[in-house]
Amino acid sequence: MRIYKYKNYDEVSKVSAAIVIREMIKNPNIILGLATGTSPIGLYKNLIKAYNEYLISFKDVKTFNLDEYIGIPNDHPESYSSFMHRHLFNHIDIKEQNIHIPSNEIEHIENLAEEYNKKLFGNQRDVQILGIGANAHIGFNEPGSEMSNQTFIIKLSEETRMSNARFFDSVDEVPTHAVTMGIKNIMFSKQIILLAFGKEKADAVYKMVYGKITEDIPASILQLHPDVTIILDEEAASKLDMKSDFLEF
Ligand code: F6R
Repeated sequence: MRIYKYKNYDEVSKVSAAIVIREMIKNPNIILGLATGTSPIGLYKNLIKAYNEYLISFKDVKTFNLDEYIGIPNDHPESYSSFMHRHLFNHIDIKEQNIHIPSNEIEHIENLAEEYNKKLFGNQRDVQILGIGANAHIGFNEPGSEMSNQTFIIKLSEETRMSNARFFDSVDEVPTHAVTMGIKNIMFSKQIILLAFGKEKADAVYKMVYGKITEDIPASILQLHPDVTIILDEEAASKLDMKSDFLEF
């Protein structure tokens, strides 16, 4: 694990984008694993900027998103499909057929999760972007989710629904379930970049880095991945024992 601490959201966004841009320049056919939420929005803005400056192209890039809500239509403004189009896909030259987001069509959900899984195993992510929940979830692998899980349907914890209520009119409107890559799918990526901001993430970050590897702390599994870069702002890093702005295990 390499852990970097930067002053604020803007710096973290620029540095994480610089890593992704470097990988995209090295490999124009890159396969990216993408996250939604507040954490990667600045990273996506910087990728759009690099695209507008002709530094990178998404023409031959494939993307696989971590998760999607169940119970709201795809065209709902808070579906992760809408989020990704709003914050990234509408602004770049990616081909629609190269965008993959788990489908939430409830009648076929089990089959669709299985299909997504097959695609994930056939398309190992070169770089997987992650955020982290205040309860240390990654994707929507809530505490207690099995480490051997592949794409599956999860009942969201009340903590996660409360936290995501900021995007909806009220907590009652936040879906109760989601379909998510499992831990096993997340670990099957060559490189992982995790971003975290704010003091409400400080405990989760601490447990991810120093905690026992357990299903109660889903992000702790990342200790076992060979290539993880964690990029934090000062608040998210505040509980780590960082004498300098860089730590490596
Ligand atoms: C989003 C996802 C979640 C978020 C996490 C942090 O696709 O899988 O694990 O990364 O909930 O969310 P933010 O960035 O909004 O704090």
